[in-house]
Amino acid sequence: MYPFRKGSFAPRNAWYVATFSKDLGHELMGRTIVNTPLVLYRTEAGEAVALDGRCPHRHFPLAKSCLKGDTIVCGYHGIAFGPEGECVDVPSQEHAPKALRVPKYPVVEHGLWVWVWVGDPAKADPALLPSLTELGLEGEGLTGHTMFFHEVACRYQLLNDNLFDLSHLAFLHGTSIGTLENASTPEELEKRPGFVSSMRHIRDAPCPPLMHKLGAYPTERIDRSMGMASYLPGLHCGITRVSYPASHPQAPGVHISDNRVYHTITPSTPRTSYYHFAVAVDGTVDVAQMARSLAPVIDEDIFASAEIEKMIDLWDGDPPPELMVKSDQNAVEGRRMLQAMMDAEAAERETA
Ligand code: FES
Ligand SMILES: [Fe+2]
Repeated sequence: MYPFRKGSFAPRNAWYVATFSKDLGHELMGRTIVNTPLVLYRTEAGEAVALDGRCPHRHFPLAKSCLKGDTIVCGYHGIAFGPEGECVDVPSQEHAPKALRVPKYPVVEHGLWVWVWVGDPAKADPALLPSLTELGLEGEGLTGHTMFFHEVACRYQLLNDNLFDLSHLAFLHGTSIGTLENASTPEELEKRPGFVSSMRHIRDAPCPPLMHKLGAYPTERIDRSMGMASYLPGLHCGITRVSYPASHPQAPGVHISDNRVYHTITPSTPRTSYYHFAVAVDGTVDVAQMARSLAPVIDEDIFASAEIEKMIDLWDGDPPPELMVKSDQNAVEGRRMLQAMMDAEAAERETA
Protein backbone atom coordinates (compact mmCIF):
# COMPACT_ATOMS: atom_id res chain seq x y z
CA MET A 1 0.00 0.00 0.00
CA TYR A 2 1.06 3.62 -0.60
CA PRO A 3 3.83 4.66 -0.47
CA PHE A 4 4.99 1.08 -0.69
CA ARG A 5 4.25 -1.62 -3.21
CA LYS A 6 0.85 -3.26 -3.21
CA GLY A 7 0.69 -5.83 -0.41
CA SER A 8 3.49 -4.17 1.62
CA PHE A 9 2.36 -2.70 4.93
CA ALA A 10 5.17 -2.82 7.50
CA PRO A 11 8.14 -5.03 8.40
CA ARG A 12 7.34 -7.56 11.14
CA ASN A 13 10.93 -8.39 12.04
CA ALA A 14 11.57 -5.21 13.99
CA TRP A 15 11.36 -3.79 17.50
CA TYR A 16 8.39 -1.47 17.84
CA VAL A 17 7.49 0.72 20.79
CA ALA A 18 4.32 -0.52 22.48
CA THR A 19 4.33 1.99 25.35
CA PHE A 20 6.55 4.07 27.59
CA SER A 21 8.05 1.89 30.35
CA LYS A 22 6.58 4.16 33.01
CA ASP A 23 3.06 3.62 31.63
CA LEU A 24 3.13 -0.17 31.89
CA GLY A 25 1.89 -1.37 35.25
CA HIS A 26 0.28 -4.39 36.86
CA GLU A 27 -2.81 -4.02 34.69
CA LEU A 28 -3.81 -5.06 31.20
CA MET A 29 -3.00 -2.80 28.25
CA GLY A 30 -4.16 -3.44 24.69
CA ARG A 31 -2.11 -2.59 21.61
CA THR A 32 -2.22 -3.70 17.99
CA ILE A 33 1.17 -3.78 16.28
CA VAL A 34 1.38 -4.57 12.55
CA ASN A 35 -2.17 -5.92 12.70
CA THR A 36 -1.26 -8.19 15.62
CA PRO A 37 -3.49 -7.74 18.68
CA LEU A 38 -1.49 -7.75 21.90
CA VAL A 39 -2.13 -7.64 25.61
CA LEU A 40 0.66 -6.25 27.76
CA TYR A 41 1.17 -6.08 31.51
CA ARG A 42 3.82 -6.10 34.18
CA THR A 43 3.95 -9.20 36.40
CA GLU A 44 3.94 -8.84 40.18
CA ALA A 45 7.73 -9.22 39.97
CA GLY A 46 7.85 -6.25 37.55
CA GLU A 47 8.60 -8.11 34.32
CA ALA A 48 7.01 -6.73 31.13
CA VAL A 49 4.96 -9.37 29.28
CA ALA A 50 3.38 -9.23 25.80
CA LEU A 51 0.95 -11.98 24.80
CA ASP A 52 -1.29 -12.33 21.81
CA GLY A 53 -4.36 -10.23 22.59
CA ARG A 54 -6.97 -12.60 21.14
CA CYS A 55 -8.50 -15.31 23.31
CA PRO A 56 -8.11 -18.52 21.29
CA HIS A 57 -11.55 -19.68 22.43
CA ARG A 58 -13.91 -17.12 20.80
CA HIS A 59 -11.56 -14.22 19.93
CA PHE A 60 -12.50 -12.05 22.95
CA PRO A 61 -9.87 -9.29 23.51
CA LEU A 62 -7.72 -10.34 26.46
CA ALA A 63 -6.88 -6.68 27.11
CA LYS A 64 -10.55 -6.20 28.06
CA SER A 65 -10.36 -9.06 30.54
CA CYS A 66 -9.08 -9.33 34.15
CA LEU A 67 -5.62 -9.73 35.61
CA LYS A 68 -5.58 -11.95 38.72
CA GLY A 69 -2.07 -12.20 40.12
CA ASP A 70 -0.04 -12.85 36.96
CA THR A 71 -2.88 -14.69 35.23
CA ILE A 72 -5.27 -13.23 32.65
CA VAL A 73 -8.84 -14.42 33.08
CA CYS A 74 -10.73 -13.99 29.83
CA GLY A 75 -13.72 -11.69 30.28
CA TYR A 76 -16.02 -13.89 28.16
CA HIS A 77 -15.98 -17.50 29.48
CA GLY A 78 -13.23 -17.24 32.10
CA ILE A 79 -10.48 -19.31 30.49
CA ALA A 80 -7.21 -18.28 32.18
CA PHE A 81 -3.70 -17.85 30.79
CA GLY A 82 -0.37 -17.52 32.60
CA PRO A 83 2.48 -15.16 31.65
CA GLU A 84 3.98 -17.72 29.25
CA GLY A 85 0.66 -17.82 27.39
CA GLU A 86 -0.16 -21.25 28.81
CA CYS A 87 -3.77 -22.12 29.62
CA VAL A 88 -4.07 -22.64 33.38
CA ASP A 89 -7.82 -22.98 33.85
CA VAL A 90 -10.99 -23.74 31.87
CA PRO A 91 -13.90 -23.16 34.29
CA SER A 92 -16.29 -25.42 32.35
CA GLN A 93 -14.04 -28.52 32.59
CA GLU A 94 -11.41 -30.07 34.83
CA HIS A 95 -8.62 -30.22 32.33
CA ALA A 96 -6.68 -27.20 30.97
CA PRO A 97 -5.57 -28.37 27.49
CA LYS A 98 -1.93 -27.74 26.55
CA ALA A 99 -2.96 -26.90 22.98
CA LEU A 100 -5.03 -23.97 24.21
CA ARG A 101 -2.41 -21.25 24.55
CA VAL A 102 -1.73 -17.76 23.34
CA PRO A 103 1.55 -16.84 21.64
CA LYS A 104 4.06 -14.88 23.71
CA TYR A 105 6.08 -12.12 22.02
CA PRO A 106 9.63 -10.98 22.79
CA VAL A 107 9.76 -7.79 24.85
CA VAL A 108 12.67 -5.61 25.82
CA GLU A 109 12.78 -2.47 27.94
CA HIS A 110 15.38 -0.12 26.55
CA GLY A 111 15.64 3.57 27.28
CA LEU A 112 12.24 5.08 28.03
CA TRP A 113 10.27 2.47 26.12
CA VAL A 114 8.82 -1.06 26.05
CA TRP A 115 9.67 -2.62 22.67
CA VAL A 116 7.83 -5.61 21.23
CA TRP A 117 8.80 -7.92 18.35
CA VAL A 118 5.86 -9.42 16.46
CA GLY A 119 7.99 -11.12 13.78
CA ASP A 120 10.16 -14.25 13.88
CA PRO A 121 11.15 -14.60 17.57
CA ALA A 122 14.47 -16.20 16.60
CA LYS A 123 15.52 -12.87 15.08
CA ALA A 124 14.52 -10.73 18.08
CA ASP A 125 17.95 -9.46 19.10
CA PRO A 126 17.91 -6.51 21.54
CA ALA A 127 21.31 -5.48 20.15
CA LEU A 128 19.50 -4.34 16.99
CA LEU A 129 18.36 -1.28 18.95
CA PRO A 130 20.78 1.67 19.10
CA SER A 131 22.65 1.96 22.39
CA LEU A 132 21.59 4.54 24.98
CA THR A 133 24.89 6.32 24.37
CA GLU A 134 24.13 6.61 20.66
CA LEU A 135 20.68 7.94 21.53
CA GLY A 136 22.14 10.56 23.87
CA LEU A 137 20.37 9.07 26.90
CA GLU A 138 23.72 8.23 28.49
CA GLY A 139 27.04 10.01 28.62
CA GLU A 140 25.94 13.50 27.52
CA GLY A 141 24.55 14.82 30.79
CA LEU A 142 20.99 14.71 29.41
CA THR A 143 18.00 13.18 31.17
CA GLY A 144 15.15 11.50 29.32
CA HIS A 145 11.54 12.60 29.89
CA THR A 146 8.47 11.06 28.30
CA MET A 147 5.93 13.54 26.92
CA PHE A 148 3.09 12.44 24.65
CA PHE A 149 1.34 9.35 23.40
CA HIS A 150 -1.12 9.59 20.51
CA GLU A 151 -3.10 7.10 18.50
CA VAL A 152 -3.10 8.64 15.04
CA ALA A 153 -5.60 8.08 12.23
CA CYS A 154 -3.03 7.59 9.48
CA ARG A 155 -0.67 4.96 8.10
CA TYR A 156 2.66 4.97 9.95
CA GLN A 157 4.69 5.91 6.88
CA LEU A 158 3.08 9.35 6.75
CA LEU A 159 4.52 10.04 10.21
CA ASN A 160 7.89 8.60 9.13
CA ASP A 161 7.84 10.77 6.00
CA ASN A 162 7.12 13.81 8.16
CA LEU A 163 10.23 13.07 10.23
CA PHE A 164 12.47 12.20 7.27
CA ASP A 165 11.99 15.68 5.79
CA LEU A 166 12.49 18.48 8.30
CA SER A 167 12.10 21.21 5.68
CA HIS A 168 8.46 21.16 6.88
CA LEU A 169 9.58 22.94 10.07
CA ALA A 170 9.77 26.19 8.11
CA PHE A 171 6.07 26.02 7.20
CA LEU A 172 4.02 23.59 9.27
CA HIS A 173 5.83 24.86 12.40
CA GLY A 174 6.72 28.31 11.10
CA THR A 175 5.17 30.05 14.11
CA SER A 176 6.89 27.85 16.69
CA ILE A 177 10.07 25.82 16.14
CA GLY A 178 10.84 26.54 12.49
CA THR A 179 12.42 29.33 10.49
CA LEU A 180 12.91 29.58 6.72
CA GLU A 181 16.50 28.34 7.14
CA ASN A 182 15.08 24.90 8.04
CA ALA A 183 14.13 24.57 4.39
CA SER A 184 16.82 26.59 2.64
CA THR A 185 19.96 25.26 4.37
CA PRO A 186 21.49 22.31 2.48
CA GLU A 187 21.25 18.93 4.19
CA GLU A 188 24.08 16.62 5.13
CA LEU A 189 22.74 13.14 4.47
CA GLU A 190 24.05 9.88 5.82
CA LYS A 191 22.89 6.33 5.37
CA ARG A 192 23.86 2.81 6.37
CA PRO A 193 21.77 -0.37 6.53
CA GLY A 194 18.62 0.34 8.55
CA PHE A 195 19.56 3.98 9.16
CA VAL A 196 19.22 7.35 7.44
CA SER A 197 19.95 10.79 8.79
CA SER A 198 19.68 14.38 7.70
CA MET A 199 21.51 17.24 9.40
CA ARG A 200 21.48 21.00 8.72
CA HIS A 201 24.04 23.43 10.07
CA ILE A 202 22.16 26.72 10.24
CA ARG A 203 24.55 29.58 10.87
CA ASP A 204 23.91 33.03 12.32
CA ALA A 205 20.16 32.84 11.82
CA PRO A 206 17.18 34.04 13.84
CA CYS A 207 16.16 32.01 16.84
CA PRO A 208 12.91 30.07 16.11
CA PRO A 209 9.85 32.08 17.30
CA LEU A 210 8.94 29.71 20.14
CA MET A 211 12.49 29.58 21.56
CA HIS A 212 12.68 33.36 21.31
CA LYS A 213 9.37 33.78 23.14
CA LEU A 214 10.47 31.42 25.90
CA GLY A 215 13.79 33.18 26.21
CA ALA A 216 15.44 29.80 25.71
CA TYR A 217 18.63 31.34 24.30
CA PRO A 218 20.33 34.53 25.47
CA THR A 219 20.66 35.94 21.97
CA GLU A 220 18.37 36.65 19.02
CA ARG A 221 20.62 35.10 16.40
CA ILE A 222 22.10 31.68 16.95
CA ASP A 223 23.97 28.89 15.24
CA ARG A 224 22.04 25.64 15.37
CA SER A 225 22.89 22.25 14.00
CA MET A 226 19.79 20.18 13.85
CA GLY A 227 18.63 17.03 12.21
CA MET A 228 17.11 13.62 12.55
CA ALA A 229 18.76 10.25 12.94
CA SER A 230 16.21 7.64 11.85
CA TYR A 231 16.59 4.02 12.91
CA LEU A 232 14.20 2.07 10.73
CA PRO A 233 11.44 1.23 10.85
CA GLY A 234 10.24 3.84 13.35
CA LEU A 235 12.68 5.40 15.84
CA HIS A 236 13.65 8.98 15.01
CA CYS A 237 16.11 10.78 17.23
CA GLY A 238 16.18 14.54 16.71
CA ILE A 239 19.47 16.22 17.55
CA THR A 240 19.88 19.95 18.24
CA ARG A 241 23.11 21.76 19.14
CA VAL A 242 22.96 25.49 19.73
CA SER A 243 25.80 27.99 20.03
CA TYR A 244 26.45 31.72 19.71
CA PRO A 245 27.16 32.76 16.13
CA ALA A 246 30.68 33.74 15.06
CA SER A 247 29.47 37.35 14.87
CA HIS A 248 28.60 37.48 18.58
CA PRO A 249 30.81 40.15 20.20
CA GLN A 250 31.28 38.47 23.61
CA ALA A 251 31.03 34.75 22.98
CA PRO A 252 31.68 33.92 19.32
CA GLY A 253 31.05 30.24 18.64
CA VAL A 254 30.52 29.40 22.33
CA HIS A 255 28.27 26.40 22.94
CA ILE A 256 24.87 27.17 24.54
CA SER A 257 23.01 23.87 24.84
CA ASP A 258 22.13 20.49 23.33
CA ASN A 259 18.98 18.46 23.37
CA ARG A 260 17.47 15.34 21.88
CA VAL A 261 13.90 14.51 20.98
CA TYR A 262 12.56 11.03 20.28
CA HIS A 263 9.68 10.27 17.97
CA THR A 264 8.77 6.59 17.89
CA ILE A 265 6.30 5.55 15.24
CA THR A 266 4.58 2.18 15.45
CA PRO A 267 2.41 0.75 12.67
CA SER A 268 -0.82 -0.43 14.25
CA THR A 269 -3.37 -1.22 11.54
CA PRO A 270 -2.85 -0.26 7.87
CA ARG A 271 -4.41 3.15 8.52
CA THR A 272 -3.61 3.80 12.18
CA SER A 273 -0.42 4.33 14.15
CA TYR A 274 0.98 4.97 17.60
CA TYR A 275 3.16 8.00 18.19
CA HIS A 276 5.26 8.31 21.35
CA PHE A 277 7.23 11.51 21.89
CA ALA A 278 9.98 12.04 24.47
CA VAL A 279 12.95 14.33 25.00
CA ALA A 280 16.36 14.39 26.68
CA VAL A 281 17.51 17.70 28.12
CA ASP A 282 19.95 19.05 30.67
CA GLY A 283 18.98 20.10 34.18
CA THR A 284 18.46 23.77 33.28
CA VAL A 285 15.35 23.08 31.18
CA ASP A 286 11.83 23.52 32.57
CA VAL A 287 10.43 20.21 31.29
CA ALA A 288 6.77 21.00 32.07
CA GLN A 289 7.05 24.27 30.15
CA MET A 290 8.76 22.46 27.27
CA ALA A 291 5.92 19.91 27.14
CA ARG A 292 3.33 22.70 27.03
CA SER A 293 5.23 24.39 24.19
CA LEU A 294 5.83 21.26 22.14
CA ALA A 295 2.34 19.74 22.44
CA PRO A 296 0.89 21.98 19.68
CA VAL A 297 3.93 21.27 17.48
CA ILE A 298 3.35 17.50 17.60
CA ASP A 299 -0.36 18.17 17.08
CA GLU A 300 0.54 20.02 13.84
CA ASP A 301 2.44 16.96 12.57
CA ILE A 302 -0.47 14.71 13.48
CA PHE A 303 -2.93 17.10 11.85
CA ALA A 304 -0.93 17.15 8.59
CA SER A 305 -0.50 13.37 8.51
CA ALA A 306 -4.15 12.61 9.28
CA GLU A 307 -5.27 15.13 6.64
CA ILE A 308 -3.01 13.43 4.08
CA GLU A 309 -4.50 10.07 5.04
CA LYS A 310 -7.98 11.48 4.29
CA MET A 311 -6.71 12.76 0.94
CA ILE A 312 -5.24 9.34 0.03
CA ASP A 313 -8.52 7.75 1.02
CA LEU A 314 -10.24 9.55 -1.88
CA TRP A 315 -8.54 7.15 -4.27
CA ASP A 316 -9.71 3.59 -4.29
CA GLY A 317 -6.17 2.24 -4.35
CA ASP A 318 -2.97 4.22 -4.72
CA PRO A 319 -3.04 8.02 -5.09
CA PRO A 320 -1.55 9.66 -8.21
CA PRO A 321 2.27 9.89 -8.42
CA GLU A 322 3.93 12.44 -6.14
CA LEU A 323 5.97 15.42 -7.20
CA MET A 324 9.48 14.84 -5.86
CA VAL A 325 11.92 17.65 -4.97
CA LYS A 326 15.47 17.81 -3.64
CA SER A 327 14.51 17.70 0.04
CA ASP A 328 12.83 14.31 -0.53
CA GLN A 329 16.14 12.49 -0.88
CA ASN A 330 16.20 11.31 2.73
CA ALA A 331 12.58 10.12 2.63
CA VAL A 332 13.12 8.34 -0.68
CA GLU A 333 16.08 6.47 0.78
CA GLY A 334 14.19 5.63 3.98
CA ARG A 335 11.20 4.34 2.03
CA ARG A 336 13.49 2.30 -0.22
CA MET A 337 15.10 0.62 2.80
CA LEU A 338 11.72 -0.13 4.36
CA GLN A 339 10.46 -1.63 1.11
CA ALA A 340 13.61 -3.79 0.96
CA MET A 341 12.95 -5.03 4.52
CA MET A 342 9.39 -5.99 3.57
CA ASP A 343 10.53 -7.62 0.30
CA ALA A 344 13.07 -9.73 2.22
CA GLU A 345 10.37 -10.89 4.63
CA ALA A 346 8.01 -11.72 1.76
CA ALA A 347 10.76 -13.73 0.02
CA GLU A 348 11.41 -15.64 3.25
CA ARG A 349 7.71 -16.43 3.62
CA GLU A 350 7.61 -17.78 0.07
CA THR A 351 10.56 -20.12 0.60
CA ALA A 352 9.35 -21.28 4.04
S1 FES B 1 -13.58 -16.11 24.45
FE1 FES B 1 -12.16 -16.24 26.01
S2 FES B 1 -12.93 -17.75 27.30
FE2 FES B 1 -14.32 -17.71 25.65
FE1 LIG C 1 7.08 18.33 12.56
